[in-house]
Amino acid sequence: MGQPSIPEIMRAVVLSAYDGRPDSLRVEERPVPEPGPGEVLVRLAAAPINPADLMFMRGQYGLKKALPAVPGFEASGTVVAAGGIAGRLMVGRRVAFGTAQGDGTWSEYIRVPLGHCLPLRAHVSDEQGATLFVNPFTAWALMDMARQGKHRAVAQTAAASALGRMLLKLAVRERIPLVNVVRRKEQVELLEGLGAEHVVDSSEPDFEERLHELFHRLGVTLAFDAVSGPLTAQLLRAMPAGGCVTVYGSLSGQESSIHPSAFIFERKRVEGFWLADWFLQDRFGPKQIRALMGVPALFGREMETPVRTRLELSKAREAVTLAAGEMTSGKVLLVPG
Ligand SMILES: NC(=O)c1ccc[n+]([C@@H]2O[C@H](COP(=O)([O-])OP(=O)(O)OC[C@H]3O[C@@H](n4cnc5c(N)ncnc54)[C@H](OP(=O)(O)O)[C@@H]3O)[C@@H](O)[C@H]2O)c1
Repeated sequence: MGQPSIPEIMRAVVLSAYDGRPDSLRVEERPVPEPGPGEVLVRLAAAPINPADLMFMRGQYGLKKALPAVPGFEASGTVVAAGGIAGRLMVGRRVAFGTAQGDGTWSEYIRVPLGHCLPLRAHVSDEQGATLFVNPFTAWALMDMARQGKHRAVAQTAAASALGRMLLKLAVRERIPLVNVVRRKEQVELLEGLGAEHVVDSSEPDFEERLHELFHRLGVTLAFDAVSGPLTAQLLRAMPAGGCVTVYGSLSGQESSIHPSAFIFERKRVEGFWLADWFLQDRFGPKQIRALMGVPALFGREMETPVRTRLELSKAREAVTLAAGEMTSGKVLLVPG
């Protein structure tokens, strides 16, 4: 069967203000972009709404684009045109891709550097492929950090998130004990059902004592924190001397306050992690190559993303409102009309 022809005009979701309001999104008709040298044109299959997109809409993400801009950092689709010989070999292939520069992925057609595309294996659906980049690579990079640092045991917050569940799978695979911190009872049950051995609910009155007991008993010296705010300080307090909290998300939107004695007398540390930096540090470094081989091999099998619903691009405001609540129930995907 031949490829459908490429129209001249497409629909794209456009952000007009960094105020975090769904009303600041509108759907616009725009010319379909032409791929330049080293680029391909992808017809959208699905694009997720991730916490990073919500931060981006609030102007709190690590990069700001000149407005109006098309949001969206990852997606899946089919390559329909290419600006160079190498890209032409990809025409007709289903790919997952991530993009941080230029227009984002919430659009019927997206121009992407060929090097940002990964061909999708046959068993990976378009929906799953849409989420192959941001969370799986972050989960992999965090677990790599645990492995390389020879940590006896690790911990994570927001453990019922899509990423948290991937980290859980990786920890089981690597046989690294993992303490999972969640914020409500249903999430404890969910994670235990997925095979988690240690789950702690931060809404319980004895939360800090349990954390302290588990961290000391298991030897947790590294915690991955996606929540921030007071929880970062609680994690650090619960750790043995020399422990480190790696903050990689700010779901609470709150600041953390840590007593300096933790740094001075207990050699504790707080660090940050951002996938974009990690890839750019050394694009073809051994860690990154290991991830580029390892993630696609596991994705769609041991690693997968729960999907809650799909909505057309024209319903982007509704989709963003949905995605900002009840996050544990799965990703909201944007799909073309
Ligand atoms: N630094 C990086 O490079 C990088 C890369 C990828 C992801 N991330 C971060 O990883 C985190 C998880 O992403 P995801 O896509 O996996 O998330 P997700 O699937 O949308 O799930 C978010 C989870 O966080 C919980 N949550 C939300 N607000 C919370 C709060 N204030 N306190 C405690 N828990 C809260 C939600 O629980 P409820 O259902 O109760 O709301 C849900 O279980 C996000 O912070 C994201 O920004 C960072």
